[in-house]
Amino acid sequence: MRTKYCGNITVSDVNQTVTLCGWVDRKRNFGNFIFVDIRDCTGTVQIFFHSKNHAAFQNALKLRNEFCIQVIGIVQKRTVKNQNMKIKTGLVEIVANVLNIINSAISLPMDINQHNEEKIRFKYRYLDLRRVDMFQNLKSRHEITKYIRNFLNKHDFLDLETPLLSKSTPEGAKEYFISSRMHQNKYYALPQSPQIFKQLLMISGIDKYYQIVKCFRDEDLRSDRQPEFTQIDIEAAFINDIYIKHITESIIKMLWKKFLNYTLTDIPSITFSDAINKYGSDKPDLRNPIQLYHIKKSNLVYNTNSSNENNIITIALVIPMGISKFSECEIYNINKIIDVYNTINYVYIYVYNLKNQEYKIINTINPLKTHNTIEIIDNINANNGDIILILSGKKDVVNNLSNQVKNIIAQKLDLIDQNSWKPIWITDFPMFKKDKNNVLSATHHPFTAPKNIDIQTLTTINPESILSNAYDLVINGYEVGGGSVRIHNPEVQKIIFDILNISIKTNKHPFDFFVHALKYGTPPHAGIALGLDRIVMLLTKNNNIKDVIAFPKTNTATCLMSGTPSTIIY
Ligand code: AMO
Repeated sequence: MRTKYCGNITVSDVNQTVTLCGWVDRKRNFGNFIFVDIRDCTGTVQIFFHSKNHAAFQNALKLRNEFCIQVIGIVQKRTVKNQNMKIKTGLVEIVANVLNIINSAISLPMDINQHNEEKIRFKYRYLDLRRVDMFQNLKSRHEITKYIRNFLNKHDFLDLETPLLSKSTPEGAKEYFISSRMHQNKYYALPQSPQIFKQLLMISGIDKYYQIVKCFRDEDLRSDRQPEFTQIDIEAAFINDIYIKHITESIIKMLWKKFLNYTLTDIPSITFSDAINKYGSDKPDLRNPIQLYHIKKSNLVYNTNSSNENNIITIALVIPMGISKFSECEIYNINKIIDVYNTINYVYIYVYNLKNQEYKIINTINPLKTHNTIEIIDNINANNGDIILILSGKKDVVNNLSNQVKNIIAQKLDLIDQNSWKPIWITDFPMFKKDKNNVLSATHHPFTAPKNIDIQTLTTINPESILSNAYDLVINGYEVGGGSVRIHNPEVQKIIFDILNISIKTNKHPFDFFVHALKYGTPPHAGIALGLDRIVMLLTKNNNIKDVIAFPKTNTATCLMSGTPSTIIY
């Protein structure tokens, strides 16, 4: 139906007859002549209809936005004053000889060339995807996936599928269940990841596996989380964490070079505990230059017994030139975030003139009293004009808050270099975490191997002090991947299940088949899963994975276009 794509027409096509297909992007009627921009997946080009060509002109009069059309015409160079350097094809236009209206379009619910609100974009996603930038996102996704596949194929990884109608796997989120016509009252679970199956493939001797696979998690959604998302899932046998990290780094470096022409150096590593102390987060954005400082207890005067509680920490962070750059309203907004946790004591120190030891303490709703304030200011290298915020309270809350406030300050003061990439490995996670009700769960998943610990110690030690041989890859504050060395000893696996109170003695537990499989000469193995959606989001410089998924769900896990989920009507 066509001889050329719209966005690819150049001056080298001048005087050629071309046939183009696409949609009406814009129409301008000047009486005796009409300009129509026609758009396809490569971009737009201008079509010129003159009234002298009666048939084509009469048809052009009928055109409205998003009509699907075919145009046959001759490429001509635009006069200098009509050139449009904002578009790729701005030096040329097509003088139309024939216009075929392939299909008309009813009135549009949105202007495809404008920024529309999410509700409309999602209800009419098929129209939203006609936008050239959305097409580019999907095209990049395709290219990125292709390069990853090529890389893994070249390194002898086998691309194998694992079941979607599956059994529950514990990865921390709730699962989606599927009913069955043949098995009343029984359900399949959609996999949170192919974890168990990829390990079984290692037991089978597959050696190196990968799969670019949909995973399903019924969890709270946000800009980097969808209920169904795609993992680049990798596993290999007779290797260790160093190999998996090396393969992963090679993929990431290759992608950043190919798609951003950015050369990443070797990715540094930090332990979970150091990351929390240094950055207040296990997903640190290393581009953020705001530092956290731990304040000594001796520099504080507590008016409650809270200082004696375990787990209390005090962290200071500096708002550079905050006196002139932060309004009272902005400070008030930070206070509102802190006050959500009414257990936090905090104070602001406004640093005026260090030479004369001039500063002002602004006490807040939950006041914190400092002692040797000048020593605090000196130790954290604050300067005249800075504001110091000191937060004190439960370790996890203070860490979380200081990370949030750090991000607000960096954003407001434009401190993040948007063109730099700072990946980091986070290692040595605690094996287990305790919830509010003191129930232990696995920080990663229960198949993760403990680090540097023998089987005897494992049964006697406080589980909360056990570290895991797990590793997460974080890029610019996003967790891009997570993996671990796996338990390949059935005894160790049983001890871990026991710690988690997962009894496999009854033979009724969903994993008894897995522990049984481990008993047949399981090789040492390790793996990782990378979040494809997050990688594409970063490489295309978007800040929401919805923009790189063709048909995403809303933050309440619905599809506005098809009305999913729905009641069954047949
Ligand atoms: P994990 O749960 O860390 O590990 O997931 C791996 C990576 O998948 C991405 N991811 C998500 N992306 C979008 N939406 C979500 N809801 C979502 N959840 C996770 C993240 C994350 O780092 N089986 C293990 C991997 C292994 O041990 O090999 C697993 O699934 O980028």
